[in-house]
Amino acid sequence: MNKELILDVDTSSRQAEQKAKQYFASLYKIVKEKTYAPALTEDFRLWKEHHIQHGSWLSFLSPRRKSNAGHNYSYIQWLNRTGKLDDYLDRSISYIYMRDLGKALDSPDTEAKIQRVAADVKQRLLRSTKGKQDEQSEFFSLVELYRWAQKEDVETAVIWVLEKLRNVASHIPEGMNAEHAQRKLIKIIVGVVLHASEEISEETSPEERARRLDEAIRLGYSYGLTYPFIDDLLDAQVLTDQEKAEYSRVIRAALRTGTVPQVGEWTGENNALMLYIHAELTEAFEYIKQHQQDAQSQFFELAYTFFHSQERDRAKDLSDAAYTNEELYIPVILKSAASRLIARSVIRAPLDQGFEDRTFFYGIYNQLADDFADMFDDTKDGAVTSYTYYLKYRDQRPDLINPYELYWTVIYYLIHEVYHSDAKSREVILSRAINGLKRFKARIGTEQYNRTMDIFASGNPALNRIIQRLVQKADDVDFFDKLLRDQFINNLKNERKLKEEFKKTIQETREQINSTLQIAKSEKLLATKEILVDAANYSLAGDAKRLRPIITWFMGVQEYGFKPESIVPLLRSLEYMHTASLIFDDLPSQDNASIRRGRSTLHQIHNSATAELTGLYLIQKAIQDQTSLDQFDPKAVLKLIHYSSRTTEELCMGQLMDLNAKGKALTLEQLNMICFYKTGIAFEAALLMPAILANVDDQEISLLKTFAYHAGIAFQIQDDLLDLEGDAHLLGKSVGQDALNNTSNFVTVLGQEGAKKEMWKHYCLATEALREMPRRTTFLQHILNYLVNRDR
Ligand code: IPE
Ligand code: IPE
Ligand code: MG
Ligand code: MG
Ligand code: MG
Repeated sequence: MNKELILDVDTSSRQAEQKAKQYFASLYKIVKEKTYAPALTEDFRLWKEHHIQHGSWLSFLSPRRKSNAGHNYSYIQWLNRTGKLDDYLDRSISYIYMRDLGKALDSPDTEAKIQRVAADVKQRLLRSTKGKQDEQSEFFSLVELYRWAQKEDVETAVIWVLEKLRNVASHIPEGMNAEHAQRKLIKIIVGVVLHASEEISEETSPEERARRLDEAIRLGYSYGLTYPFIDDLLDAQVLTDQEKAEYSRVIRAALRTGTVPQVGEWTGENNALMLYIHAELTEAFEYIKQHQQDAQSQFFELAYTFFHSQERDRAKDLSDAAYTNEELYIPVILKSAASRLIARSVIRAPLDQGFEDRTFFYGIYNQLADDFADMFDDTKDGAVTSYTYYLKYRDQRPDLINPYELYWTVIYYLIHEVYHSDAKSREVILSRAINGLKRFKARIGTEQYNRTMDIFASGNPALNRIIQRLVQKADDVDFFDKLLRDQFINNLKNERKLKEEFKKTIQETREQINSTLQIAKSEKLLATKEILVDAANYSLAGDAKRLRPIITWFMGVQEYGFKPESIVPLLRSLEYMHTASLIFDDLPSQDNASIRRGRSTLHQIHNSATAELTGLYLIQKAIQDQTSLDQFDPKAVLKLIHYSSRTTEELCMGQLMDLNAKGKALTLEQLNMICFYKTGIAFEAALLMPAILANVDDQEISLLKTFAYHAGIAFQIQDDLLDLEGDAHLLGKSVGQDALNNTSNFVTVLGQEGAKKEMWKHYCLATEALREMPRRTTFLQHILNYLVNRDR
């Protein structure tokens, strides 16, 4: 389906420019005549009154909030205890409705929706922060997201977008901030999904609702992609000037026609990056285009206006002293308005003049607030914003508008001209403005803050006194989206750090385990025995992940405090048993595989008989090793050996079930069962064996089992998926083996998408088991993340 779009981006751009000019002229008049100052003084008086009515007046007088400990989840609990949580959420949600959805807050319908959302968020917030001492909260964890996806029946889209996001993150070049790129992208997706939800009514059928949300997620990603990969990339110092010029030409052409033009080779070191971006943008644009209406595409027109004004801004040079006020502000009005309007246009929402106007006027408010907060960084970078420009040229250019005064002018304009002096709008906007100043002050310190205010706020001493008093005293001007934003960035940063540490420790542990695995050959060994030992060593020496002994090592050493040397025999025994199971699994009588761990399978090097006997030999070696666990209670060791032999028994049963299931249409229950016995059980063993030695109680054993059950199945599903979509070279084994063998597994029975859904379901269940666990379980969470995200 390839629709022809008739785009006239020049006309629409000109119209937008006209509108921006008129808007700027109105603002200019107000800022020059300073009429905003007395009006805002009165607004602040009313704002305070509103706060009195809501019982928050006391907070101006008494510092009840513990040491201003920051805006975090204990703050949420504090808000709840002091009865301020409702106001806080109402303010926060109202703000989102106003900014992101372009709503007027005085509509009863909007008011009712805000109430509903606030109540819902409150419930979830209190549930996820309950009993938490630290700053950890599951408010926006992967599990929460997936649970939502299940409820809305959009798992496929969510899995799709998570894979896309992971891909983007791995392609963000050094020299760009990966966390911010991800955050922006996610924010856009959420914004588009919010717009789509707004258009869904009570009468919409569940299927239609799911369809629209699915589409919104994909459209959100497709549009969101333009932030890291167009805007940020052109701002960053990653591409050469020549590459930037070429790339910019490509984007401009794409927005003018709706089709990303082909490009030749990108020479130089950015080739791979540019190829990825080009392919990803092409796919995104195609997807958006298919979802626009015939012969009319607000999306591309707005995107063009947006891009064009960004380019105008980017071309500015801080050393050029001659920019006019219009040159400084018109692009700002245009790009900030367009970026918000796009989020609605991309889902083809019906035209809504009220939305368009409010959003058009609103944008610059955010932009001026952001540029204010960033003025020192921007100055360092030599970027031209209204603030950096004013800082530099205010003395020699008395004609320049003071951007801080323009900021308050916009606030005045929004409250009175756009939102018709509505009390709620005033409440929300003024709170937000005070909050912005507070955050800025906290970040740069009182001294520099005061110096900054001397520069920008000196024109209106009376109004400024009121504002500064509130910046000092106002306590209840926080917003939930700011908390989410801070936590989100922190989480991403932390995650990245922890993941790197995890990778390193895993690597080190693997090397240690590798060094203990080879079976020694004594002097006077019979020649045939030597063949057996060599064969075992051959299989053991392959490039394997050693996941099972790694898990045991972590649990044993880090959780239960065993001496590393004391559990070496246990680590060996686990890897011996596992390697034996693979030798059997690869036999012609089973999966008939020719490559394992990056080398020929054992039966190919020798013959089936030798392979079978080596498998048996390794299992016996494993038991010998277990009997040498002499630093533990003998009773516990016996229990462990008993458990271990049962494990082997069950694994044999699982393999047989798997082989007997060939070509059969299995039920989910049967799939789970086979999978648990052939694979899950070995993960269970890796967790339970050290737990048995540590004598942990039954409740913990049972949680470990639940975790192992789901983690093991998730692991095997990923194995099945990798057999379909993986890279043989990375995996060290052939792909396509399951289809060839007519094996019945999650992928062959449920299909790729179905299998992914099952995998994430088990991922959630495993995580939930972890949350019940009394011990620190970061390691297990990381292992679990690794199991489902691995590519080898
Ligand atoms: C492969 O196990 C057998 C399955 C249970 C899918 P691994 O993927 O852990 O294989 P190695 O040990 O790293 O070779
Ligand atoms: C193997 O499952 C299960 C075992 C415990 C041997 P697979 O047959 O899918 O494992 P691979 O893909 O060959 O490693
Ligand atoms: Mg198999
Ligand atoms: Mg196999
Ligand atoms: Mg497999």
